[in-house]
Amino acid sequence: MSEKILVIGANGQIGTELVNALRNIHGAEQVIASDINSPAQAIRHSGPFEFVNVLDKANLHHIFTKHQPTQVYLLAAILSAVGEQKPKMAWDLNMTGLIHVLDFAVEFKTKKVFWPSSIAVFGPHSPKEDTPQYCVMDPNTVYGFSKLAGERWCEYYYTKYGLDVRSIRYPGLIGWRAAPGGGTTDYAVHIFHEALRKGSYESFLSAGTALPMMYMDDAIRATITLMDAPPETLSIRSSYNLAGISFTPEQLAGEIKKIISNFEISYSESDPRQAIADSWPKSIDDSYARQDWGWESAYDLPAMTEDMLRNLKNVMEVKDKGERL
Ligand code: SER
Repeated sequence: MSEKILVIGANGQIGTELVNALRNIHGAEQVIASDINSPAQAIRHSGPFEFVNVLDKANLHHIFTKHQPTQVYLLAAILSAVGEQKPKMAWDLNMTGLIHVLDFAVEFKTKKVFWPSSIAVFGPHSPKEDTPQYCVMDPNTVYGFSKLAGERWCEYYYTKYGLDVRSIRYPGLIGWRAAPGGGTTDYAVHIFHEALRKGSYESFLSAGTALPMMYMDDAIRATITLMDAPPETLSIRSSYNLAGISFTPEQLAGEIKKIISNFEISYSESDPRQAIADSWPKSIDDSYARQDWGWESAYDLPAMTEDMLRNLKNVMEVKDKGERL
């Protein structure tokens, strides 16, 4: 039987890339992109789209009834930095939205659900280096503890109702096709845009702030690999640690400088995102993902930097040309 895949929050940084990857695999008509806002340019013409508000149960019920999805990817969320400005709203969207989707997935017998967690589930007392899957977790951002609670709900629905939920604790994600929205790791995307546009960048994180990161191509491949894995191979139903590359703003700037030799970086003195970054791991131990579903990242820092700059440059040139016409 062919799959019918519903992607909720399709306009975001992950959604825009995932929708197109899934459409290439399953066929355009099998993948319903949905979002609270009008479809993003990147997904607008590649297949069907629905307006969805995960907090509106009647609306969500209608979409499940209409499409009877066999798989659902719930990507709608408020990220760490914006979450601190709108704590109640972040909790509501990240938590109530998840529970609505889990409930409908049980009711409509959806075969598989994917839900993203994050390195933000760790906190100041978690080990910083090679942070293990299981350890002290005391997240102090609303985003972080909404993700930790969400992981518990995912495991609960798996155990209690047999719902096949799968999840990854994504590191900071870096891609050229879509902009990030309101996270602490966003600097690692903005820096590429500004390097090409202005030749300089002011980082809101300090020079030595190491964080776990990952190139988007790796993240999409990890997501699809996890979703394709035979269920019996998965030992974790909360969320898998996943590692790509760990680096600091200074190291990233050094790598960009190898390609754009006059690139300059400076550092802002005080930004609330610094405290968030300081509470997170520097690197992640992802041995369960390696053992259970054969995870291995492909991009190191030089490969990612080269690929980002090359693709982003093309996109900017095409855009500038379009604006001049
Ligand atoms: N990239 C996210 C953020 O910075 C972490 O999951 O909020």
